[in-house]
Amino acid sequence: MLDRIHTVKEIALKELEGVADQELLQAWRVKYLGRSAELGEILQGLKDLDSGQRPLVGREVNQAKAALEKAYESHEAELRIAALEQSLRYERLDVTLPGRPLPQGRLHPATQTLRRIYAIWAKMGFQVYRSREVETDEYNFELLNMPAHHPARDMWDTFHVTEPGILLRTHTSPGQIHVMRERAPEPIRVILPGMCYRYEQLTARSEIQFNQVEGLAVGRRITFADLKGTLTAFARRMFDRHVRTRFRAQHFPFTEPSAEMDIECFLCLGEGCGVCKYTGWLEILGCGMVHPTVLRNGGYDPEVFSGFAFGMGPERIAMLRYNIEDIRLFWGNDMRFLEQF
Ligand code: DAH
Repeated sequence: MLDRIHTVKEIALKELEGVADQELLQAWRVKYLGRSAELGEILQGLKDLDSGQRPLVGREVNQAKAALEKAYESHEAELRIAALEQSLRYERLDVTLPGRPLPQGRLHPATQTLRRIYAIWAKMGFQVYRSREVETDEYNFELLNMPAHHPARDMWDTFHVTEPGILLRTHTSPGQIHVMRERAPEPIRVILPGMCYRYEQLTARSEIQFNQVEGLAVGRRITFADLKGTLTAFARRMFDRHVRTRFRAQHFPFTEPSAEMDIECFLCLGEGCGVCKYTGWLEILGCGMVHPTVLRNGGYDPEVFSGFAFGMGPERIAMLRYNIEDIRLFWGNDMRFLEQF
């Protein structure tokens, strides 16, 4: 019996010398020090030995186990140190390598267009006025001369929320009332940029969210001639050319008279092509003289004050400038599109 113990120990120690990594080491441990290892079995069989042999064999087994534990521990430490040295030698950090280039961000094409629009209006004395995206029915419709059930409301498919009377603004026009109520009776020259929302089918021409830039001028002798001149000056700066403009009669409840402004198609210069659908003209904004009711709702006396207003879609303008065919690209977050600007 004592010989057997000795032999097991010798074999185990010999085998340990050849163990070269942690995985094999753990297997070795299970094999010689685990529950069903041979030394363990001998210990369990002690009770069957006669009382003279029992203490002798017991001591021998325990000594052998202790020797193996010790050998295991020092071998384990050796392996660990070897692994560390190995990684220090081969995985050395090369501080002279060039760093990884950081991807360079850029402004979203809608932001670029907005900033261009702000800069042009700023030179004409128009301040940026920001107003809320979550609006009331009163501001989005009623105070803009569209009482409940007015058929003109059908022009804007609206996102309502569960709270009655609260909605996502369908256009930036409610900002006109906010700014007038804040400034009356001072004259006003502002643009009101921001996100608008419409509950619409997504198509190449319409999105559920998009920017608008509203404009509002209120003063004592503002006429339709001011509207035409100012908007034409804007178009020439926006499109870098002495572009021709035309005003077509249109209807908006909050302006009277109302119009839409077209610019001459910059691709065919009025000849007619695919971009302008063979009309020679491209529509870029809605506008008009502020309706007397709207002036009154804003706190201005329409007998004394007049004003003009307009609303344009910067994404639509960017589509014209860069020949982008689908408005959904703006909020689709596709880098292949965004990186082109
Ligand atoms: N709010 C209009 C729309 O979303 C655009 C608009 C038209 C704004 C005429 C104006 C305006 O201020 O005078 O369709």
